[in-house]
Amino acid sequence: MSGLSELVGVLKAAGEDTRLRLLALLADGDHSVKDLTEILDQSQPRVSRHLKLLADAGLVQRHAEGAWAYYRLAPDGQGANLARWLTARIDPNDPERQRDRMRQTEARAEQQALAAAYFAKVAKSWDLLKTLHVPEAAVEAAVLAELGGRSVDLLVDLGTGTGRMLEVLAPAYMRGVGIDASREMLAVARSRLAASKVSHAQVRLGDIAALDPAIGPADVVVIHQVLHYFDDPGRMLAQARRLLKSGGEILIVDFAPHDLEFLRSEHAHRRLGLSQEQMNGWAAIAGLEVLSMREFPSDTKDRGLTVCLWHLGDRNTTEQSNA
Ligand SMILES: C[S@@+](CC[C@H](N)C(=O)[O-])C[C@H]1O[C@@H](n2cnc3c(N)ncnc32)[C@H](O)[C@@H]1O
Repeated sequence: MSGLSELVGVLKAAGEDTRLRLLALLADGDHSVKDLTEILDQSQPRVSRHLKLLADAGLVQRHAEGAWAYYRLAPDGQGANLARWLTARIDPNDPERQRDRMRQTEARAEQQALAAAYFAKVAKSWDLLKTLHVPEAAVEAAVLAELGGRSVDLLVDLGTGTGRMLEVLAPAYMRGVGIDASREMLAVARSRLAASKVSHAQVRLGDIAALDPAIGPADVVVIHQVLHYFDDPGRMLAQARRLLKSGGEILIVDFAPHDLEFLRSEHAHRRLGLSQEQMNGWAAIAGLEVLSMREFPSDTKDRGLTVCLWHLGDRNTTEQSNA
């Protein structure tokens, strides 16, 4: 329930042509101010002013990412309800709406092309690594199975890349957050999540080596093929632990120890796989415990890598439940 003047304020914020168009665009997924400016073909200060009014009224949420800002529909509250109610009633055949949609699709295609240019640079390593992996599908199914059919409140995917884990695990969480340091990877992730209609996940630019604990508290943290890029995976684990709520869990997918030195010299790997012993040690220091580990040997005979899936739990909770 709200006071009359508060309600009038929310209605006034939504009751304007450009602002209604913005709400309709944001109902379809997160957008940067830059995207929205291009789609609406209006000046950036003008679009920012409209967005600020919508945010002040609780209709949308702003998330700053370095020099850029992203907007999304507010996830809850009176403004969120009104925004969803209104946008569901806009005729999809309205000519202005159709034009906005078309420009939205074009903007996404441009981002995909930019990201593709980035991937083109690393394409060699991705292709090579794929032949060294076990089939991704087996690992992905195992990660989902590890959550045992539950749907947790908050799942955070560290080093989310193109957002594949957020997509695969979408049935297992109510809210998903992916963090990555690459704008190009995040552009692909945003498109992927929008295309697969995963509206309960968002991705953010961020350094996972210096995590803001306010991102949590998370029930589950996922770290998929990321730790080997860090000199000190234990430090990363301690960071991840800070995001967890009591009783939370961490799922890690990474390579078992290997001797492919060229992955270090040519593909930016720092660690040549992670051993069970190392993982036990890092986990203990971070206040975690390894609950289980599964191995997925390579199905390529030549120079194959084994992929491991570790399931870690909060040590305090496991000790209490064993007592
Ligand atoms: C090999 S990709 C894995 C992506 C994704 N987890 C997956 O398995 O599909 C590693 C990702 O870690 C990200 N990354 C590396 N260092 C990072 C850092 N310090 N902060 C945030 N992301 C980082 C990279 O940008 C990249 O997207």
